[in-house]
Amino acid sequence: MSFPRPTQPILVIGATGSIGSQVVRALLEHGAPVRVFVRSPQKVEHLPLNVEVAVGTLEDREAIARALRGVHAAFYVSPHDAAEEQLAENFVSECERAGVRLVFSGVYADGRTRFVRWLQRTLFGVMLPHYRPKLRLAERIRTSRTGAVMLIPGNYFQMDEVCQEELLAGRYPLPLGVVSRVDTRDVGDAAARALLDPTVPPGDYTLTGPAGVDGEATAAHWAAALGRPVIYAPDIPETDAILARAYSGRKALDCQKTYRLTGRLKMPPSPAAIRQTEYLLGRAARSHADYARETVAAWRAGVPAPATPELTATV
Ligand SMILES: NC(=O)c1ccc[n+]([C@@H]2O[C@H](COP(=O)([O-])OP(=O)(O)OC[C@H]3O[C@@H](n4cnc5c(N)ncnc54)[C@H](OP(=O)(O)O)[C@@H]3O)[C@@H](O)[C@H]2O)c1
Repeated sequence: MSFPRPTQPILVIGATGSIGSQVVRALLEHGAPVRVFVRSPQKVEHLPLNVEVAVGTLEDREAIARALRGVHAAFYVSPHDAAEEQLAENFVSECERAGVRLVFSGVYADGRTRFVRWLQRTLFGVMLPHYRPKLRLAERIRTSRTGAVMLIPGNYFQMDEVCQEELLAGRYPLPLGVVSRVDTRDVGDAAARALLDPTVPPGDYTLTGPAGVDGEATAAHWAAALGRPVIYAPDIPETDAILARAYSGRKALDCQKTYRLTGRLKMPPSPAAIRQTEYLLGRAARSHADYARETVAAWRAGVPAPATPELTATV
């Protein structure tokens, strides 16, 4: 797909993270001017020289206001942070002040009316209390004066790479019922379309792979990719330990709490969700089987796997 190239930069929050880095990659592929908002500029030294770097944190509203100067549109992903609601408030209110259009990716209850969304948030909040601030901040963005496009991705395929060691030993331990899963590269591609294409209307878009994937199917895809057996062996204490090994602080805790529920879910993506994803991508979404095959090929070639450079090993 090609779009009119904006002359003003697009601001990307979370550019060093799993989703923001894919948004930057996709925007650059479209030849769009990009500005990243980062806490540590050394983490983006690998980006092309034409990427503008604005240094600051989401706690600092003046830094946000400076970073938004002359910006065409902005991408926001909410960090795993105890103050994530306040950080989102800082960002969205500065976008409103600057008249910047916002594309958000994260957890959101997408009922049609405020009342239905309140009910969804209440129910979701009972099942996953740590999602309450995430759902409230997403509602704040959806109802803001930013013409927000809300992207609602399922569980990232790339989460599997936290258990690369266990996969290589023939086990997939993360608990997964039937859930909507999506490739982070597709989230980046969909966000780039929403940021660049003025015909994409504000609203809610679920992002999913082409089919629901459960733990058995996930293990089978890794087995096919590796060419050796991989069994699905869900184990909460092992999952907790794996996530604590891969991540720290709030991110590890959030993921541990989420995987306590994912094993019990029976929520395949709806046909509407698949259509919404295909609309934004202009093609079918990447499948988990293809993702597993490409990732194993990358491991074998000794190059970083998609989106998780720190998790490479000999296969
Ligand atoms: N994991 C899943 O399967 C899944 C599925 C759907 C939705 N989600 C949601 O996706 C979100 C996480 O996205 P992600 O995986 O891309 O996160 P991530 O990889 O942890 O990246 C977080 C980014 O935010 C930046 N950041 C953190 N605190 C900041 C601050 N105070 N000021 C400025 N920048 C800050 C980090 O920068 P540094 O490099 O400086 O730390 C990093 O670039 C969460 O809200 C989660 O609920 C996750």
